[in-house]
Amino acid sequence: MRWIGTSFKMTKTIAESAAYAARLREAVGPEAPAGVRPFVIPPATAIDTVARTLGAGSPVLVGAQNAHWADGGPWTGEISMPQAADAGAALVELGHSERRTHFAETDATVRRKVRAALRHGLIPLVCVGEDAPTFAAGGSADHVVAQALAALGGSADTGTVLLAYEPVWAIGDAGRPATPAEIAAPVAALRDAVGDRVAGVLYGGSVAPENAADLLGVPGVDGLFVGRAAWRVEGFLRLLDIAAGR
Ligand code: 13P
Repeated sequence: MRWIGTSFKMTKTIAESAAYAARLREAVGPEAPAGVRPFVIPPATAIDTVARTLGAGSPVLVGAQNAHWADGGPWTGEISMPQAADAGAALVELGHSERRTHFAETDATVRRKVRAALRHGLIPLVCVGEDAPTFAAGGSADHVVAQALAALGGSADTGTVLLAYEPVWAIGDAGRPATPAEIAAPVAALRDAVGDRVAGVLYGGSVAPENAADLLGVPGVDGLFVGRAAWRVEGFLRLLDIAAGR
């Protein structure tokens, strides 16, 4: 299975998210291309709208960009896994580097959130990735394996978890795309360490139509997790086509 997903991060109004979802529904139809599993992760304000616009039974999964480990209570500013699911999320992104860097997300909090997501039937999409100094020092594989092991813990029920390998130095406007050669070893290390315990290993960081096929060709890569290149729906549709071999 090739998972192709995008996070809108902190972009798009409800109306913009709805327009994106409507176009996606129209273009994808009732069945995704064979072997391709699309997902979209709008801002929390638009999860409900995107899920309703895509409609029940859509082949496009909807996700949340984050959710708390507690089921409810005095956690101002947070949403819980049950609330994310109630809004229409089937998947929850956890531990993105922007959350680790700016919002004090740690391996320990990611682990608690993975537990909570699984408890509520959400697919955890756990982001792992090394920073530039770790990459330069040759520590990428060890770093991401440690993050993945911490997120999964010793639990036996992690078979729905998706991992996204996102080198921090490859993400966003300040990043540069990783090459297939650069991601091969960290991806192989993740597969060796936890491949039989998760549903897939995705790559993310400056993915674009120009590099998508090559990145998908790296052994062990089960999909792509995309930011900017998929924020216009045409970009996302192009990536779905590439994943489908069209
Ligand atoms: P970009 O594709 O914009 O580099 O973002 C990747 C990412 O962080 C996906 O979560």
